[in-house]
Amino acid sequence: MTTETTDVHGDPAAGVAGGDYDLFGEEFVRDPAPYWRRFRARECPVAHSELYGGSWLPTRYADVVAAARDWETFTSSRGVSVVRVPQNEESPLAVGGAPPITADPPLHSWTRKLLLPAMSPQAVESYEPRTRALCRRLLEGFRGRGRADAAADYAQQIPVRIIGFLLGVPEERSDEFVGWVRSILEFANDLPRRQKAIDELVAFLRDQIEERRADPGDDLLSLFLATEVDGEPMPEELIIGEAALTLVAGTDTTWSAIGSSLLHLATHPGDRRRMVSDPEVWPLAIEEFLRFYSPVTMARIATRDAEVGGCPVAAGDRVLMAFPAANRDEEVFERADEFIIDRARNRHLAFGVGIHRCAGSNLARMELTVALEEWLRAIPEFELEDPGRVTWAGGQVRGPRSVPVVFPTAGSGISPTPTT
Ligand code: HEM
Repeated sequence: MTTETTDVHGDPAAGVAGGDYDLFGEEFVRDPAPYWRRFRARECPVAHSELYGGSWLPTRYADVVAAARDWETFTSSRGVSVVRVPQNEESPLAVGGAPPITADPPLHSWTRKLLLPAMSPQAVESYEPRTRALCRRLLEGFRGRGRADAAADYAQQIPVRIIGFLLGVPEERSDEFVGWVRSILEFANDLPRRQKAIDELVAFLRDQIEERRADPGDDLLSLFLATEVDGEPMPEELIIGEAALTLVAGTDTTWSAIGSSLLHLATHPGDRRRMVSDPEVWPLAIEEFLRFYSPVTMARIATRDAEVGGCPVAAGDRVLMAFPAANRDEEVFERADEFIIDRARNRHLAFGVGIHRCAGSNLARMELTVALEEWLRAIPEFELEDPGRVTWAGGQVRGPRSVPVVFPTAGSGISPTPTT
């Protein structure tokens, strides 16, 4: 890990102890865009932090794309967490990782292929009625009350149940899933909490695997169990790793995207009205939500001394695939820091780029679209109850965790600012 370069690249003006940024710092999590702007304008647009084991943060689109495409120099096989986490060497996740996201080819290639049929456009279309019914059920639970937490009562509840269905696990376990996923991603800098969650998740998956062995179904765990590699059954540590990844990758990411979009609509009545009245704007709006509020940052480890954006990084250094920062690069996106609901040119990197590009992007887009459609059908007018009570999670996956909103109900007397 190179730390001596911090003095060269560090930006005391940023006012963060330990380097240019704190991935879990309140100010950075609430609004990282001013930091990215400042870093991008510097001679070296790659920022550095010594916190959490140290990392580099490229901020230009072209630099993020180049690094993400060069998997031989920037490997995923030595950890993709944005913080350095010591491994419990006995955990199957330490032995097998969480492929395909923690793997380079050739392990990456076949573990990724395994997931793709369940994430194809046709497969995803078949999950839509279930997703819609789930959204309606959640909305029925609170629309009569005139207030809800759009993040906790709605966004957080949707993806975990759809992923649970794909893995064939009972819906009643959803709250436990949410707890594990939050401890692994949102509280990744609280190492004991993170490790406890990983151990519990692994124990849960082991039980599920035993159940599925005895009674196979039409789900991903059963598919993994039926998979052979070079004539041998897929090793159990890889099954556990791939199932854990599916759960973690498919949950927090999508709930963050749904939550950010609802927060945006609660605070931008013009955009909300446009979505209610103009079906044609939806495909563009969905992509703009993904670009503007990109939730996911992943890490790589440099396998050799190399350069990112003309700045030196040393073998062993952690380099962040800062997809959210790349999505605000003015070189690529006109008025990049503005949310433009009908932005036409939008080659955003919210789903990454290169061999690890999101395997679940069809599913994510469907869930985001259906969640917003159903919300706006049931609650076309709503606004924040108290902006001071909005809270955010940061680090690997950035998104709002509490978005208290109010909306009119027949005779409730609660009435957001009229929008028509
Ligand atoms: C809005 C929601 C989502 C966003 C923004 C998102 C973003 C990303 C990003 C940026 C990557 C690349 C990681 C890297 O380069 O290291 C990725 C990979 C991945 N995502 Fe998603 N994701 C979302 C939803 C989902 C869903 C619903 C699933 C379903 C299981 C999923 C499964 C995966 C998997 C398996 C990978 C690893 C692919 C590989 O390594 O080849 N994601 N995602």
